[in-house]
Amino acid sequence: MLSGIQPSGQLHLGNYLGPLCHWPEMIDMFDCYFFLADLHTITVRQEPAELRKRTLTLLAQYIACGLDPEKCVLFIQSHVPAHSQLGWVLDCYTMFGELSRMTQFKDKSAKNSDNINAGLFTYPALMAADILLYQADLVPVGDDQRQHVEICRDIAGRFNGIYGNVFKIPEPYIAKIGARIMSLGAPSCKMSKSQPEGCVFLMEKPEDVMRKFKRAVTDSDTERCVRYAPAEKPGVSNLMQIYAAATGRSFEAIETEFAGKGYGDFKKVVGEAVVELLRPIREETERLLADKAYLESVYRSGAERAAYVANRTLGKVYKKVGLLPR
Ligand code: TRP
Repeated sequence: MLSGIQPSGQLHLGNYLGPLCHWPEMIDMFDCYFFLADLHTITVRQEPAELRKRTLTLLAQYIACGLDPEKCVLFIQSHVPAHSQLGWVLDCYTMFGELSRMTQFKDKSAKNSDNINAGLFTYPALMAADILLYQADLVPVGDDQRQHVEICRDIAGRFNGIYGNVFKIPEPYIAKIGARIMSLGAPSCKMSKSQPEGCVFLMEKPEDVMRKFKRAVTDSDTERCVRYAPAEKPGVSNLMQIYAAATGRSFEAIETEFAGKGYGDFKKVVGEAVVELLRPIREETERLLADKAYLESVYRSGAERAAYVANRTLGKVYKKVGLLPR
């Protein structure tokens, strides 16, 4: 199993309660590779010092969230040159037409109209290289990345059709578990860093977390009771989702707990539960960030283990396409 995350922003509660908190379970079930897709991140202009800092912080957060580097391969994409090398080869087996149809390319070029660069366009070929280098069976991704896994399958199939079985054809793995957390300020939108007031970041101070929960939008229905009804009461239902995920309680138990109480009390209790949920992660992240030598040892050994597997695939590909060995 393999997945990548871009170091393009701060992790938030939606990332954590969605996919991330389930990754530690996957480590026990599969042979897992997780990496920070920093080469993908530079398709959009970044502040260099910020990008470096975010990459290291994200690595520390992954470990703090339970991705034990002893039990999975944790690395940084740019530390394994085979990604760029296979990415180039796959560029030559990816069609202009199919890249033009990618919805993410259309969205991102609309948002960054002053920087529609070639990297943004060939992004899916690099992502295909990420996946195919490791002969991954499963790629856990959010719904927005499904199309990129599809094109990866097409590219791999095309290559195999010409040269024989070089690549394993991967499957997207869209987890059924994992909550879809909405913005606290606008419960009809997904929680996202682009709306910081409705978004709780993993590294946020407890008082800021509490403030965001106290200001969370509840619903203007007349019954004013805590009841799970996503269509009629999106605000309260979202808070119930969060509370359920943070405490392991069922919706019925939550309804009973808050019977006869107001929304104000409810929001405060949910906020407190989230503060307690995030506290150990934040503290562990801070501890790890203070230990740069340890983090370096993690990404170095991760890159070494990843490169060993990646270079085997790359070597095979170079040979198949007819590049003269050095
Ligand atoms: N494109 C993915 C995203 O933005 C990140 C990514 C890069 C990735 N390479 C990958 C995900 C390979 C899975 C597999 O979320």
